[in-house]
Amino acid sequence: MRATDGETEPERTGGEVRVERDIRTVEDVLRLLDGLFAPDADRWTAGAADWWDGFYGDRDRPVPFFVAEPDENLVSYVARGLVPPGRALDLGCGPGRNALHLAGLGFAVDAVDLSPAALAWAGDRARAAGAAVRFHHGDAFALTAPDGPLAGPYDLVYDSGCFHHLPPHRRISYLALLDRVLAPGGHFGLTCFAAGEMGSELPDAAFYRRSRLEGGLAYTPEALRGIFAGLTEVELRRMRDEPPESGRFGERFLWTALFRRPGGTGGGGA
Ligand SMILES: C[S@@+](CC[C@H](N)C(=O)[O-])C[C@H]1O[C@@H](n2cnc3c(N)ncnc32)[C@H](O)[C@@H]1O
Repeated sequence: MRATDGETEPERTGGEVRVERDIRTVEDVLRLLDGLFAPDADRWTAGAADWWDGFYGDRDRPVPFFVAEPDENLVSYVARGLVPPGRALDLGCGPGRNALHLAGLGFAVDAVDLSPAALAWAGDRARAAGAAVRFHHGDAFALTAPDGPLAGPYDLVYDSGCFHHLPPHRRISYLALLDRVLAPGGHFGLTCFAAGEMGSELPDAAFYRRSRLEGGLAYTPEALRGIFAGLTEVELRRMRDEPPESGRFGERFLWTALFRRPGGTGGGGA
């Protein structure tokens, strides 16, 4: 018998039937929603590592963030004293350009990525620079579990380009991650696609109807302020274009945001 949505009803063998009724927790619902994006599994689950490995396979491709330069906003946060050195976590670090910059400034850096190819490249860069970054392979959500190697607390959590690849429901997991690992008074820095410039502006529900994330989600400042309303805004602006010789990465199609978690003993401008 065929169900109307095209799914197959379970087979009955010898009178026994296994009817799938596995949703019991919020995490079960989130996993079910992840599954709606199969076979893409889009860009954020452990199953996406192969996709990212392919993406990083050719290091000479003209991908903007393949340059070995840190985000201009990150450079600026530290240079202006908004973010003092401490323990940092680079979420979805890719080939490690921001992690290496932070390590060079005296931060104790953990950096995590799903892609072994990205981490191999990051390791090459770290060796060439003599930088001490602890790179971790795996899913940032899993590794930041309370008993995981990235449980924190961190004074800085930085994400350049990972958040906008998450489906809407995984914002719940992302906020929970920040809640787990960001120290009171710690900072959260983000760069993500700017609506009108890059990424899909479809409403959240449309991604589920299409089973695709359309290459990443565009955000407005209002959306970012709403999502991260539990944090205090320090600065939210477009990334500045950087000339090739500046030594910094800068692309106008990205928002840059710095938030601070309430509490702690202050420091860093907000
Ligand atoms: C657009 S790339 C940005 C890389 C790097 N931050 C940069 O700017 O150079 C996004 C990265 O996030 C990683 N990623 C996506 N979901 C992840 C997850 N759940 N855990 C760890 N890394 C993840 C991908 O493997 C990819 O390398």
